[in-house]
Amino acid sequence: MKNYYITTPIYYVNDKPHIGHAYTTILADTLSRFRQLINQKTFFLTGLDEHGLKVQQAAEKNGANPQDHCDTMAPAFLELWKRLNIQYSDFIRTTEERHVKIVQNILNEVYNNGDIYKDKYEGWYSIAEERFITKKELDSGLFRDVKKIEEENYFFKMSKYQDQLIKKIEDDKEFIQPSTRKNEVLGFLKQDLSDLCISRPKTRLEWGIEIPFDKDYVTYVWFDALINYISSPKYSEDKNNFEENWPADVHLIGKDILTTHSVYWPTMLMSLDLPLPKTIFAHGWWLTDEEKMSKSLGNIISPLMLIDEFGVDSVRYYLMSEMVLGLDATFSMDSFIKRYNSDLANDLGNLVSRVSTLIDKNFDGIIPQCNDDKNDLSNQLSNIDIEEKLNTFKMDGLIQSIMDFVRSINVYMEKNQPWKLVKEDKDLAGIVLYNAAESLRIATLMLSPVMPQKSQEILDTLGSNDSSLEWGGLKSGEKIGSINPIFPRIVK
Ligand code: MSP
Repeated sequence: MKNYYITTPIYYVNDKPHIGHAYTTILADTLSRFRQLINQKTFFLTGLDEHGLKVQQAAEKNGANPQDHCDTMAPAFLELWKRLNIQYSDFIRTTEERHVKIVQNILNEVYNNGDIYKDKYEGWYSIAEERFITKKELDSGLFRDVKKIEEENYFFKMSKYQDQLIKKIEDDKEFIQPSTRKNEVLGFLKQDLSDLCISRPKTRLEWGIEIPFDKDYVTYVWFDALINYISSPKYSEDKNNFEENWPADVHLIGKDILTTHSVYWPTMLMSLDLPLPKTIFAHGWWLTDEEKMSKSLGNIISPLMLIDEFGVDSVRYYLMSEMVLGLDATFSMDSFIKRYNSDLANDLGNLVSRVSTLIDKNFDGIIPQCNDDKNDLSNQLSNIDIEEKLNTFKMDGLIQSIMDFVRSINVYMEKNQPWKLVKEDKDLAGIVLYNAAESLRIATLMLSPVMPQKSQEILDTLGSNDSSLEWGGLKSGEKIGSINPIFPRIVK
C-alpha cells in the first residue's frame, strides 16, 4: 500500500527558523497526523537546503566555512521541530552524501537523454534572487544586487516541456491549488518558457554539488534542492521504497516558491519520465502589520518565545485555525489571546473541568452507566467529515467543525443541566454526563493532530485510552483521572 506522502519546503540555513517556517512544518505535521487518525499510512519529509550563494554568503559573514556553518545552523531547526512536536518520517540535508549522489545520478541521466546542453549566456543576474533576470525585470527596478554576467553554462531544456505542462495544469484540477495559484502559473506560461540555467562556474560560486560531467561547475541550488523530494525516498536506488512513496500526495509550499515548484520541478520530472506530484499546494503568508515577516524587515515572530509563554499546543492551534489555507493571515498577540481564551480556555477547557468535576462529585469519579448510542450528540458527529476536509485542504474548516461539535456539547449540558438533574433522577443525569464525556473524548481525539499533548491530558482526565472515533469508547464503570486546569485563561 502506498504511503500518503507529504512534504514541506526544505529551508535555507542562512538564518534561524521563524514562525513562517514553523507554520508550514506544523501544517504538514497536522495533516500527516490527521491522515493517520483516519488509518492511512503517511510519509512526511522535511529538511534543509544547504547549498547556494545565500548560504555561502551567510557562512562568510560568520567567518565559517559553509559546511561548518550548516552544521551549526541545523540543530536550531531540529530543536524547534522537537519543541513543536513534529513527527517527521525523514529529515534531509542537501549536503548529505545520500542526496548528493542521487542529484549527480540525475544530472547524468538528464544529460544522457539529451535534455542538458552547454551554451554561452550573457545577461543580468540578481544575486538576491539567485537567478538570471529578464530585461523587463531589470527595467522594473525591483531587483537588488544586479550584475551583468557573461559566461558559459549548462542549460536544462525546460522549454521542450512547456506544452505538456500547460496541458497537465489545465486538465488536472488537483495539480496546482488553490485555483488562484493555478491561474497565476498558467499566466506565467503564456510567454515562451526559456531553458533553465542549471550550473554555476566554480569561479563564481563554489558551494554546490559538482556537475558530474564537468568539474569546473556546481549545480544551481534549485535544481539540487527540488530533487530532495525523490532522493529521500531513494529514487534510482530502492525501487520498492520509492514506489511506496512517490508520487508525493502533496508538496506544501508558501506562495513565494510557486514557480520553482510548478514549472521547474514538473519539467524536471517529465525529463526523468517520472509521475508528477498529485498536488502542489501554495499557502499564503503570515504577515505582521500587513507585511511579510522577514529578516530584513525586522518583524519576525519567534516561535520559541511563543511556546515558552503559551505552550506548544496553543501555538499549533492558533496557526492552524487562524489561517484560511491559501490566503494570507495576520499575526497579532491580540488575535492570539482572543482565540486562545474563547476556543481553548472557554469552550474546551471549561467543558473538560465541568464534565469531569460533575462525574467526580456525583459518581465518585466513575464513568456512569449508559448504553444509548443514539442521542442529540452522537447524531451530530456525522457532520464532521475529516476525509473530505483533508482532501480539499480545508484545515481551518475542519477545526471549525470539530469546535462546533465541542460547542454543541456545551449547549447540551446547558439544556439538560445534569447538576440539577442529579437531585431528581440520578440515572438520567448519569446518561447526560456519559453522553457529554463520550462526545468530549471523540472531539478530543479529533483535535489530537492539532494539539497532541493537550489532547492526551484531556484523555487522561477522562481516564480513556481508547483511540476509536466510534461512539462507545468510554467504558462505564472505569475511573476518571485527576482533574487539572487544561487551558488557564490568559489575563493581559
Ligand atoms: N530553500 C527554499 C525552498 C526549497 S524547496 C525544494 C526556500 N527556503 S526558505 O527558507 O526561504 O523557506 C521558504 C518557505 O518558508 C516558504 O515557502 C513557506 O513555506 C515558509 N515561510 C517563510 N516565511 C513565511 C511567512 N511569512 N508566512 C508563511 N510561510 C512562510 O525558499
